Amino acid sequence: MRRMEIKPQAVAIPKSTAHLEKGKYGPVFPKTPACYGFTIVADLKPGKAEAMRGYGERLAKAVEANPQVLAPLKLHYLRWVLFDNDTRFMYQGIFDTDFDKYTEDAVVLFGQTGIEAGEFIIGYTDETGGHPPVPSPETLGRNGTYVVFRKLHQRVAEFRRYLKASARSEEEEELLAAKMMGRWRSGAPLALCPFHDDPELGADPHRNNDFVFADDPIGYKTPPGSHIRRANPRDASVAGVVRLHRMLRRGTVYGPELPPGVLEDDGVDRGLMFAFIGAHPGRQFEFAQSEWLNQGEFLGIGDTKDPIAGAHEGSGSYSIPKRPIADVRAHATLRQQIVERVTSAPEA
Ligand code: HEM
Repeated sequence: MRRMEIKPQAVAIPKSTAHLEKGKYGPVFPKTPACYGFTIVADLKPGKAEAMRGYGERLAKAVEANPQVLAPLKLHYLRWVLFDNDTRFMYQGIFDTDFDKYTEDAVVLFGQTGIEAGEFIIGYTDETGGHPPVPSPETLGRNGTYVVFRKLHQRVAEFRRYLKASARSEEEEELLAAKMMGRWRSGAPLALCPFHDDPELGADPHRNNDFVFADDPIGYKTPPGSHIRRANPRDASVAGVVRLHRMLRRGTVYGPELPPGVLEDDGVDRGLMFAFIGAHPGRQFEFAQSEWLNQGEFLGIGDTKDPIAGAHEGSGSYSIPKRPIADVRAHATLRQQIVERVTSAPEA
């Protein structure tokens, strides 16, 4: 039998780029004869298989309904599979293009969101018509960006006790939680369903982010002090220009869930892993955190803090606009709900 010959189909990316030809976006890296790709195999938490399948189905439906939704990523091949009786998960991503094309795709994607690419990628025009300052060494300024990563411990039992102490019924607890966040637990925004949760809407990626605040200036639906309205006021009237403070954001929970109904802290560390990506961390992440989340002046709501992510000391207040009168009854004892555990320096 003839032995099949297998030649390695990869090339190493050189450490020094000085000798490389300069392309449209910086050095032209050697193209690999095969594709770029990566594979992740992970254990699946017990009980999470259905949720994972549901997520995949939602994505598939989104693409079916609007084939353009992933158009900028058309050069990528992504697939995932659950195996070993739903205990493991494999995710594979392949992009069959070079880095320049990959960058162009990203620019198209950002262009479609209506924001200049320079807000997120160093080396491109930003919303001010200028360019983000180039860091040192200069090579980091070509197609680079900044990442702020935070591990935020959450006081879940305390949050639940706060809701219970502040509301008269379970329904009212849920409403108060939603008024603090701006979304119901399913993700459905108060802006679209102000009176009760709508899990179908919460699960629908076409609709659950398709809302504005200008039609609700007082905040009868989504309070101006709620987390999502502070973190991204969208078209609400605020001092300053919202477009200069946008961010790409990814988050995931860490630690085991506190079992439903438990009101005492079990001492286990849990919370949110938060990642910010942007070319202007100062006027994007830092501004949003210091001016929008921890003060209310820019939003026209005085010296108040975000009820979810603000740095409270136990004396903050939170008001919920209500006809005929604002509801400040429950909210005079806001305690800090999060504690920062780790902050990493920006990197390009
Ligand atoms: C433990 C602390 C935090 C929790 C539990 C939390 C939770 C959430 C949740 C549940 C949402 C709504 C879901 C979504 O739109 O993806 C959200 C949205 C958001 N959060 Fe946070 N967050 C925290 C801290 C922060 C911090 C520190 C920042 C930035 C400085 C931030 C910025 C944002 C932004 C920009 C949005 C999107 C708002 C929108 O356009 O709808 N969050 N957060």
